[in-house]
Amino acid sequence: MADRYLNFTGTAPGRFLTRRLGLPQPAPLRRWSPENPTLDGPLLVLTAGTSGLDGPVPDIGLKTVTSTAAPGGVLLDATGVASATDLAEVHAALHPVVRSVADSGRVVVLGARLSAEDHHQAAAQQALEGLVRSLGKEMGHGRTVNLVRLTAPSPAAAESTLRFLFSPKSAYVSGQVLELTGTEPESPADPTHPLAGRTALVTGAARGIGAAVAEVLARDGAHVFCLDVPEARADLIRTADGLEATALPLDITADDAAHRIASALPGGCLDVLVHNAGITRDRRLANMPADRWSSVIDVNLAAVLDTTDALLRTGTLRRGGRIVATASIAGIAGNTGQTNYAASKAGIIGMVRSLAPRAAAAHGVTVNAVAPGFIETKMTAAVPLFIREAGRRMNSHAQGGLPIDVAEATAYLAHPSSGPVNGQVLRVCGQSLLGA
Ligand code: NAI
Repeated sequence: MADRYLNFTGTAPGRFLTRRLGLPQPAPLRRWSPENPTLDGPLLVLTAGTSGLDGPVPDIGLKTVTSTAAPGGVLLDATGVASATDLAEVHAALHPVVRSVADSGRVVVLGARLSAEDHHQAAAQQALEGLVRSLGKEMGHGRTVNLVRLTAPSPAAAESTLRFLFSPKSAYVSGQVLELTGTEPESPADPTHPLAGRTALVTGAARGIGAAVAEVLARDGAHVFCLDVPEARADLIRTADGLEATALPLDITADDAAHRIASALPGGCLDVLVHNAGITRDRRLANMPADRWSSVIDVNLAAVLDTTDALLRTGTLRRGGRIVATASIAGIAGNTGQTNYAASKAGIIGMVRSLAPRAAAAHGVTVNAVAPGFIETKMTAAVPLFIREAGRRMNSHAQGGLPIDVAEATAYLAHPSSGPVNGQVLRVCGQSLLGA
């Protein structure tokens, strides 16, 4: 559904009126396209005090500088910050440059794992989180601010994450913290088609976010299987045909769903599994009959658990595989009328955190989640007007996200170089105030 307010504030009278009335002024976000693949301006690399890294930050294809008037992005290496006194170095590095970051520019702070032995280091590193989340709220103009924590001193683990965060693909990701493992990342043979030769399955792919995910994974070179309920067959076939993908009409809650998925895949093998199918059946708990409760739990959580278990157990998901499940900020913050939905989405987060280390150790597969905020789809178009307007504006970008924003985040998690990203819940919410 079109965001008329965003369109209005993009006009001269709209800008004038909203400024006079003190209303939110959402900036148009720069999103990725083949014509618009990188940020405006170079990457300014700064260090707060002494770096804790054991090598240089990885090359992510951007021109890097150590001083500039108008950076497209700022990378602050704060891995060596280990005391309250050291935090002055963070201020000294960022204070002179934040104002000059280009519109839709990026700030990423690199931090270190919080020490269990040194509470001064832990305090200083946790302080970075407060700084990043606050700066994200201050920057405006479509800029984003995120924190990447490295659990090992090798910066190589951060490559795919920095490529994503310092690109227009992360337009709706701000105020987030990603913690990376020390795993050595794999490099794709063809960086422009990182998923070439890989097979992906996207559930709920007939429309909305799932259709966008299928499109982006196909763009990145994957052969995509688009799964949706048989009732959505016409939309599903339209989506799949446009992507040279394969349509798989199937209810994901069917008892034999995993078996039918494996039978449909070439060689019975899968590299990327995206659990996107989801439903809402909203009502306050006091008014909610058992069938409304269980239908949401069945689709959004039980089917995800069952298919994940079966596809891992049977080895259908190959080594190097990626599982990306779809949570929601409702699963983090809770939402009136959504006890069933929020329970199912919180359950996804629990699954990711518990399964991720075991799936990596036993199967070489990573398990992460995206947690969308307010995304413009048929699901949110059905939300009553005033709640919809509140959902759209209550974030640092003062606008809803688009399905492509969730799709780009999913593609980053599915990337062959994202092996060090495991057990993470990445909010794609424009730094929504809900659950912040
Ligand atoms: P949507 O309603 O537009 O699309 C969901 C798709 O899932 C539909 O095509 C539907 O037919 C399919 N589906 C439902 N039950 C299924 C089943 N049993 N088996 C196979 N497919 C099934 O929803 P939207 O907005 O694209 O959301 C996608 C995911 O993102 C969902 O998991 C949703 O909970 C989540 N999400 C969406 C947000 C938003 O703002 N749109 C916010 C947070 C999370």
